[in-house]
Amino acid sequence: MNAVDIINKTKRKIKLAEDEIKYLVNGYTSGEIPDYQMSAWLMAVCLNGLSEEETVSLTLAMRDSGDILDLSCIEKITVDKHSTGGVGDKTSMIIGPAAAACGVAVPKMSGRGLGHTGGTIDKLESIGGYRVDVEFDEFADIVNKTGFSIISQSGQLCPADKKIYALRNSTGTVDSIPLICASIMSKKLALNADCLLLDVKCGTGAFMKTPEDAKKLGELMEKVGIAAGKKCRAIVTDMNTPLGCCIGNSLEIKEAVELLQGKVKGRLYDICIELTANMLELAGKGTIDECTAMAVDAIASGKALDILKKTIELQGGNSSICDDVERLPRAKYTHVIYAPRDVEISAVDAEELGMASLILGAGRISKDEEIDYSAGIVLEFEIGDKISMDAPLMTLYSSCVSDFSEAAYRAYNALKFRTLTDGALT
Ligand code: URA
Repeated sequence: MNAVDIINKTKRKIKLAEDEIKYLVNGYTSGEIPDYQMSAWLMAVCLNGLSEEETVSLTLAMRDSGDILDLSCIEKITVDKHSTGGVGDKTSMIIGPAAAACGVAVPKMSGRGLGHTGGTIDKLESIGGYRVDVEFDEFADIVNKTGFSIISQSGQLCPADKKIYALRNSTGTVDSIPLICASIMSKKLALNADCLLLDVKCGTGAFMKTPEDAKKLGELMEKVGIAAGKKCRAIVTDMNTPLGCCIGNSLEIKEAVELLQGKVKGRLYDICIELTANMLELAGKGTIDECTAMAVDAIASGKALDILKKTIELQGGNSSICDDVERLPRAKYTHVIYAPRDVEISAVDAEELGMASLILGAGRISKDEEIDYSAGIVLEFEIGDKISMDAPLMTLYSSCVSDFSEAAYRAYNALKFRTLTDGALT
């Protein structure tokens, strides 16, 4: 077997056998197959795709490149959730505690943000003291005590994905549905929860820009998960507009806590209930209607907030932020953008707002960059709202940028609005 024959087969759309895919993944991970050959194969996959069977083989070979967690020490049924990433997506901090309050265990490993999308680990680190690098035994212990924990992904999980993803980022080979599927699913299968809910984001702020591609990715991930013996379901949710009104690390924790305090409703709340209900149904807790009622009660009763608070405390974080969100990091500088005339907001470009937030310091372009936890954007409207001239549209926050001109320009241009003539503003 050799890499050139494998590259040629994919180039000519000839199906690869399982052992050929294993040879490629293992050879690249160990350093025997060089970057240039792996890049050529990745580009052939981008152009010609892979069959379902090949995608399953690739995912399992990547999963098997490192540790696979043994979660048998966790007493309850384990449910993991993965979102394909978006702008303002703070659902993990809400649905993890909500599902745990309904009797399942939610052990989660997450990553840091890159580019315009945020990362759950960065958001959690904005809570003073919160430890994300927790050893497995302590992680399992926290999950057994509270039902929920999020830590950063261990370096021993999926080394193949780490190396291949870095190569894809520098060779223009990220946007391939089978490669995205194998990358995400290999990490999820290595975490090894009993059930897996996949939230495929679709829209301007997401990897998948069209409903067709989002559906394709969701269906493929679901098939791979089921082939690997998991209870697995994918649902597609909208990411044309940011999720909730806050974008940026501590601002998103604030919004998540406020939702668990019962103060936030709207699209973010509805999606959290839908995701939690699906996690519970996958875990066999009841029908979707019963699970929806359980999810609503978990938040309304304050049980989910108590679980988040206890988990933060066990991970060394300042859990008093669950009582008073003003204890989260606050930005030194703020800038308010006002409506230039009477307007109705018709759309928002989530990716552009993500970019504006990145300019304010909330995100990073390269892997090792520091970020400003207090930075971000708060939207003062919902789509369809009518705003009078000189009323605030959004507030920008930063502790590292005092000149807001570039971020404000991008944030303002992310909005699409209709000018209202006399009498149209109610
Ligand atoms: N997230 C991943 O982990 N991998 C991809 O390829 C894309 C998004």
